[in-house]
Amino acid sequence: MTKIIAAITGVQAYAPEYLLTNRELEKMVDTTDEWITTRTGIKERHILKGNGLGTSDMAVEAVKGLLQKTNTSPDEIDLVICATVTPDMVFPATANIISDKADLKNAFSFDINAACSGFLYSLITASKYIESGSYKKVLVIGADKMSSIVDYTDRATCVIFGDAAGVVLLEPSENGYGILDSILRTNGSGRIHLHQKAGGSVRPPSHETIDAKEHFVYQEGQAVFKFAVSSMADVSVEIMEKNGLTTKDIAWLVPHQANLRIIEATARRMGLEKEKVMINIQRYGNTTNGTIPMCLYEWEDQLKKGDNIILSAFGGGFTWGAIYVKWAYDGGK
Ligand code: UT7
Repeated sequence: MTKIIAAITGVQAYAPEYLLTNRELEKMVDTTDEWITTRTGIKERHILKGNGLGTSDMAVEAVKGLLQKTNTSPDEIDLVICATVTPDMVFPATANIISDKADLKNAFSFDINAACSGFLYSLITASKYIESGSYKKVLVIGADKMSSIVDYTDRATCVIFGDAAGVVLLEPSENGYGILDSILRTNGSGRIHLHQKAGGSVRPPSHETIDAKEHFVYQEGQAVFKFAVSSMADVSVEIMEKNGLTTKDIAWLVPHQANLRIIEATARRMGLEKEKVMINIQRYGNTTNGTIPMCLYEWEDQLKKGDNIILSAFGGGFTWGAIYVKWAYDGGK
């Protein structure tokens, strides 16, 4: 019997309209366009404005667009997994809210929190449900409204993050195209360098936690940078070697967009020229779980059936990983 694997058969993304440029940030905090550009590669980021709007609202836009373009009825979706660190609420899961708003009546749904590696963790989790033969159409969403947990008086973090959502449709494939391999890693001791201090069970919200600004992203940039730059490059090279792939065999690297310097170091270690690396950090910043599906969406029309693609990420936790995908269709939006 032919082995069933999971293939990405469609991708869509959504970024809110409002653009927060480096020039505007110069007026908000003590920073410069030059510092942000040379240290991160970021020029602008999209921000979700409007009362009562959250992560699910961006995700629903992406999901509806995906269903329409892939000619999929909402009733056909079996499972929805949403990777996010900025859920609409602590509970229920944002995936439940998305399913309701997008009318996905037959799907069961849950969230995965693995910070910036959440989309990769979710993709692999979803692929196992497909490989089991039990489920046929699964949505994997990566979405974050990072502006809801960023302190816009802290120059060290507010220049980095943006808001966006992306989604892929996963379906069974018996012809060898799809998700072929993955390496996923966690090192919880890294949590001290990147986290949100309050709002969980250890430090529930209080006047004190709000006054101390503990509901915002806390990041020790340099410490995270050191781990990110070596771990993302290591795991990307490891998945190449594990699958006997040479630089020539790889059509695209799809890296998490946290810092242009981390992306370039990863590509260098893999021996890949810049033309094979998806980079859009200059226009979106770090959208956490949104980065990888956003890239796939923007480059979709250049992707060809059979392309060998490496997805790679590093994030809070620490979490990191890489996935090897043989792309399953000729692109075209
Ligand atoms: O996505 C999940 C994982 N996250 C990451 O991968 C992020 C990894 N870290 C990074 O990308 C970088 O560490 C940052 C972009 C966050 C920071 O860049 P850096 O080159 O590591 O800068 P730094 O934190 O070492 O700061 C250097 C200097 C400091 O000033 P002093 O102490 O040298 O006087 C900072 O106060 O730059 C200062 N600084 C700024 N200056 C102007 C920090 N932020 C800014 C700013 N504008 N926005």
